[in-house]
Parts: sequence; C-alpha cells; structure tokens
Amino acid sequence: MKLLNSLLCCGMLLLAASCGNAGEAEKVSSPCDNCEKAAAGTCDGNGECKVVATNPVIENIMSRRSIRKYKDMTVDRKTMSKILECGINAPNGQNKQSWEVRVVDSPAIMDEIKAAMAATGVSMAADCFRGAPVMVFIARDNSYDFSTIDCGLLAENMVLAANSLGVGSICLGSPVRFINDSPMRDEVLTKLAFSPGYELCLCVGFGYADEAPAAKPRNFDKVKFVD
Ligand SMILES: Cc1cc2nc3c(=O)[nH]c(=O)nc-3n(C[C@H](O)[C@H](O)[C@H](O)COP(=O)(O)O)c2cc1C
Repeated sequence: MKLLNSLLCCGMLLLAASCGNAGEAEKVSSPCDNCEKAAAGTCDGNGECKVVATNPVIENIMSRRSIRKYKDMTVDRKTMSKILECGINAPNGQNKQSWEVRVVDSPAIMDEIKAAMAATGVSMAADCFRGAPVMVFIARDNSYDFSTIDCGLLAENMVLAANSLGVGSICLGSPVRFINDSPMRDEVLTKLAFSPGYELCLCVGFGYADEAPAAKPRNFDKVKFVD
C-alpha cells in the first residue's frame, strides 16, 4: 500500500512538473509525508524520518499548569523583568503593542486591591489572586479591536517564560470583574494608573508553586484538519 502511495505520489509530481507546476506541487508536500513518526508528531522534518527525542519548547508548553497555591516568597524584579520582556515580545496586531502592563509586588498595595475586591461582598473576591505574591495587571487599548488578543498573547508568553524559569503562574479573569464591580474601583484604577483609553483586561499572578496540579484534559475533537 505504501509503495502504491509512493508511486502515485511520484506520478503526480511528474505530471505537475510536465505542466510547469513543479513549484506548486513541492509547496504542498511535507518532508514528513512518508515518515512513520509523523502521526505521533515527532518527525523532525529534516527529510529523514528522525524522531525528535526532546524539545524544550514543547516540554515547557505541556508542563505549564495554573498554580493556585504559592510558597511564601516573592519573585525578584530581575526575574520578573525577564518574564515581562518575553511578554512584550509576543506577536501583536500591527505591532501596536495595544497593552499597558502594571506589576504589583508590594504586599501593602496587594492588600489594598484585595480589600477593594472584598468590598464587592462576594465571598471569593478577596481570595481571587490565589495567593500569588506578584500580580501583573494588563489593560487593553479600547480603540483597537484586536487588543484583547494582543493582551492574551502577552499573558501566554509570560506564563510560558515563567514556567521555563521555574516560576508558577495563573491567568485570572475574575479580579477584572471584582475590581470593576468594587465601590473602590476608582481608587484601584488610579493606583494602577493606566493611560486614558485603556481598560483592565486580564491579571496574571506569579510566584513559586506550592502544588503540582495534574493537566486538565483537553479535547482534540475540537480540532479538525480541513480536507
Ligand atoms: C482568560 C482566563 C481567565 C481565567 N480566570 C481564572 C480565574 O478567575 N480564576 C482561576 O482560578 N483560574 C482562572 N483561569 C485559569 C484557568 O482556569 C486554567 O487555565 C484552565 O482551567 C486550564 O488549566 P491549566 O492552566 O492548568 O492548563 C483563567 C484562565 C484564562 C486563560
């Protein structure tokens, strides 16, 4: 069957070449086309059917988990700066960098913001930072329709960079709601001092993990190759 497939494939390539379309035919083929390892996603694409034994980027992506229990120690600013630098190097629409980022690592300011969220009267509000000692507040540029996506990609780059450095993290949407619903909203937003036209979009907590949660299941059925 494999031989038949290869013969058919060669035939099609020859036909395409004779029609002057060789370039087009080559474009749609992949160096992993005839690789038995490709089904497992491990063909390295170098023409030979080699298995990629390890890939630190993929390992980093697959090992990241949301952390909701942190050790009682902060993340130093040098480490945070590297994480933030990775964040702002995320792909973003037209390189508008349609975000603004505020980093809170002061326990006193953190407590002020927690108190503001608790003032909503919602029982879980005070705890919604999940104990992360450093909180990054990301605001989106209201005037740009893709700014929410830019902010999400910024956050993803940060959590992956953090994971690679042994720093735990969690993306948090609920603090955005609690801050906006708080009677002390204006005080919090004044403290964060985003520019006019920016609105709080997402928070990301960082710290050293005091738990090792298992991966939650993902549904690959939601992904389809279109033939
Ligand atoms: C936009 C967004 C908002 C989230 N908000 C919260 C939140 O408010 N509280 C929380 O505990 N986790 C929050 N999470 C974390 C998700 O629950 C978590 O990413 C998801 O369950 C998958 O688990 P994993 O990150 O460990 O793979 C949020 C994640 C994203 C991307």
